Amino acid sequence: MSEHQTSVAERIIVALDYASAQEAEALVRSLEGIPCYLKVGMQLFYSAGPQFVQSLKKKGYRVFLDLKMHDIPNTVKGGAESITRLGVDMFNVHAAGGKLMMESAREGVDKAMTGAGPGSKRPLLIGVTQLTSTNQATLNDEIGIAGSVEDAVVRYAELVRSSGLDGVVASPLEVVRIKQACGAGFVTVTPGIRPAGADIGDQSRIMTPPQAFAQGTDYVVIGRPITGAQDPRAALEAIIASV
Ligand code: C5P
Repeated sequence: MSEHQTSVAERIIVALDYASAQEAEALVRSLEGIPCYLKVGMQLFYSAGPQFVQSLKKKGYRVFLDLKMHDIPNTVKGGAESITRLGVDMFNVHAAGGKLMMESAREGVDKAMTGAGPGSKRPLLIGVTQLTSTNQATLNDEIGIAGSVEDAVVRYAELVRSSGLDGVVASPLEVVRIKQACGAGFVTVTPGIRPAGADIGDQSRIMTPPQAFAQGTDYVVIGRPITGAQDPRAALEAIIASV
């Protein structure tokens, strides 16, 4: 793998959306040697638990624990503390939980980091803005937020930044405005990625991998285009080569 390909791979987060550790392990084995990030979401975490996350860390992977916490501040603080102790590299909370909830998540991280062993790294704490499956009608008619999805996302991003978090999950379509509003160093993690011609599924606001990186996003999250492919390794390699 060239230096360029390695740096692209390091910014791709493969979503391990599987029902069991066995299935996820098979996928991880097939990607061996590719320095991508791995994402454990609720389906896998609720079945395979912290042990599975720790097994990925032992293999040397960077892990994004995508549990999208949204609860009262005290509960989220405790959750953030437990997650930080697991040693993940990135995790998230919903921006819709508000400033106090997000600040409490930070306090949970601080508490876990106090007295953590040498070499332990602070995880990136990320706020979820609007899900990439949310379209204008869902936002206005169901959730009850007026205006465009993009404006709602940027407003959330500003709230996430002022709450002291490291970045946001958003669609690649909003990256340029988020970076303008919150600064280049504010991290963007973008799902809703589909290689040209791939099945869109339930995603709504999407871009191809090269388009998303051209927006200046820090990380792309890709699930089904890799996990649902006949040959997941070949699918990931093709995505890396396309950027
Ligand atoms: O299969 P697909 O590429 O659509 O997977 C996208 C992944 O990113 C899923 O695991 C989903 O839970 C996650 N995600 C998302 N939109 C967000 C936050 C996370 O699609 N706003």
